[in-house]
Amino acid sequence: MLKNKHLLGLENTPAEDIQMIIDTAFRFREVLERPIKKVPSLQGKTIVNLFFENSTRTRISFELAQKRLSADTVNFSASTSSLKKGETFKDTAQNIEAMKIDAVVMRHPTPGAPLHLTKHIDSIVINAGDGTHEHPTQAILDMMSLHEVFGKINGLKIGILGDISHSRVALSNIFGLIKMGAEVTLCGPPTLIPPYIQDLGVKINHNVDEVLEWADAVNILRIQMERMGVGLFPSIREYRKLFGITEERVKRLKKEVIIMHPGPINRGVEIDSQVADSEQAIILDQVLNGVASRMAILYLYLGGKSELN
Ligand code: CP
Repeated sequence: MLKNKHLLGLENTPAEDIQMIIDTAFRFREVLERPIKKVPSLQGKTIVNLFFENSTRTRISFELAQKRLSADTVNFSASTSSLKKGETFKDTAQNIEAMKIDAVVMRHPTPGAPLHLTKHIDSIVINAGDGTHEHPTQAILDMMSLHEVFGKINGLKIGILGDISHSRVALSNIFGLIKMGAEVTLCGPPTLIPPYIQDLGVKINHNVDEVLEWADAVNILRIQMERMGVGLFPSIREYRKLFGITEERVKRLKKEVIIMHPGPINRGVEIDSQVADSEQAIILDQVLNGVASRMAILYLYLGGKSELN
């Protein structure tokens, strides 16, 4: 039994619940290897994917996860909805819920929007990324991917590199990894790492070569120009030189480090193509684990009753 009704973030999700989701996700990974990749676990449940912001991976993997669990799914896109005619967020949500749904998966550019939604509807709310706040399902799939490689999370040394200030992936990973017993070091330009973040139990090191040498795995984040407003570093060229995970940088290392990236990738900026496509990168495994993780999350939060097998 999970502690919370909704999955709004990992800040308030206990370690035992995170572990239960990861364990369940590995069982769903087995389902995804079968010729018929479908189980009846959520038959009769209806889930609405409410996306107010662009997405490729999260949206498709949630939709696939819902179909693999035999749930009925409906996709809502803000750009083609009556929001464009002036309908409020609250009215939109309450009208959708009046159609007898069980859960909403929501992405929104405003931090706290999924929490706000829980005040207006009774359905279960799953946060698919809220502004610069949290992206809990991404952090769960990242931790599942680490568990797959290392057989554990406790004691791992994880570097999170790049634009920490604007990254919901960073914040959810920090909450999750620290709870699960990993050591976390953040690396990036000082202007893109908020000083308060050390209170969360992480270290900060601005030398990317030292972090790469220290870490078992690094999660590389994109520079989020669209959330920045003003330039917080001199140029893309300088960023790549000082913080980019280049082929030369990786070749210089005395040991292998696992390379992760939540996507979307800006090739040639935060990571070189040769690194992103190398054997030590698990970026596409993260994507597959995203489907299994989201199946586990939907199954557990919606109280899926049937056996997985
Ligand atoms: N990782 C991630 O959230 O990607 P999308 O924005 O494409 O969903």
